[in-house]
Amino acid sequence: MNKCLCLLSFITLLATVGAICFIVYTASTGKSESWKIISRNEWAARQPKGREHIHGPVEYVVVHHSYIPDVCNTTDACKASMRSMQDFHMDDHGWDDIGYNFAVGADGNVYVGRGFGVVGAHAPRYNNKSIGLLLIGNFMEKLPPKPMMEVAQKFIAYAVEHDHVVVNYTLYGHRQVRDTECPGTAFFAQLKFWPHWRPI
Ligand SMILES: *[C@@H]1O[C@H](CO)[C@@H](O)[C@H](O)[C@H]1NC(C)=O
Ligand SMILES: *[C@@H]1O[C@H](CO)[C@@H](O)[C@H](O)[C@H]1NC(C)=O
Ligand SMILES: *[C@@H]1O[C@H](CO)[C@@H](O)[C@H](O)[C@H]1NC(C)=O
Ligand SMILES: [Zn+2]
Repeated sequence: MNKCLCLLSFITLLATVGAICFIVYTASTGKSESWKIISRNEWAARQPKGREHIHGPVEYVVVHHSYIPDVCNTTDACKASMRSMQDFHMDDHGWDDIGYNFAVGADGNVYVGRGFGVVGAHAPRYNNKSIGLLLIGNFMEKLPPKPMMEVAQKFIAYAVEHDHVVVNYTLYGHRQVRDTECPGTAFFAQLKFWPHWRPI
């Protein structure tokens, strides 16, 4: 075989190995990061009437279900759910904005409510030291779909990584801090096995 052909085969081999490595790498890591944060603009949020800020990372994550609306399976349906909850909270409750800091949809995305560093209206006494994380749906008798629960857990890890939540945070279901059935009986039974869940 001449030198030139040999070099060419070698380069082809290197390129093939490289491509395989890349595919394996994306399959193992890329897929797990496939959830997106959907901004307020994207779901056509109204302007908040007011905002109070939180400085530094918070110590608690308080988990909710919406009860109404039930699960939204598509991004368009989840955007509409966000708008309907915001209307209800602002017009019927008279609050400044949608009550929660973030919401997870069964479409596998995370929707910005009040966002990070903003006091919510989701759990009295905890609003100024927690993130209110909603899983959109009624989870009294059914669990949130598994991928949706995985996105919720990844989002909490992301919030810790980005210093919005302390490393040794405490995770509560809403019913632990208030007389309510939220986040649903079926879901709460499962939430007790999530990292950082603690009895009160
Ligand atoms: C969403 O998907 C689930 C199955 O994952 C189904 O049970 C439910 O009825 C769907 N909801 C809507 C509103 O289509
Ligand atoms: C939250 O609000 C309560 C009551 O107003 C106050 O006592 C507490 O110091 C506040 N906590 C934080 C972290 O700002
Ligand atoms: C965990 O958080 C508490 C406050 O909630 C703090 O007092 C404590 O030092 C922290 N422990 C560690 C190991 O970071
Ligand atoms: Zn709740």
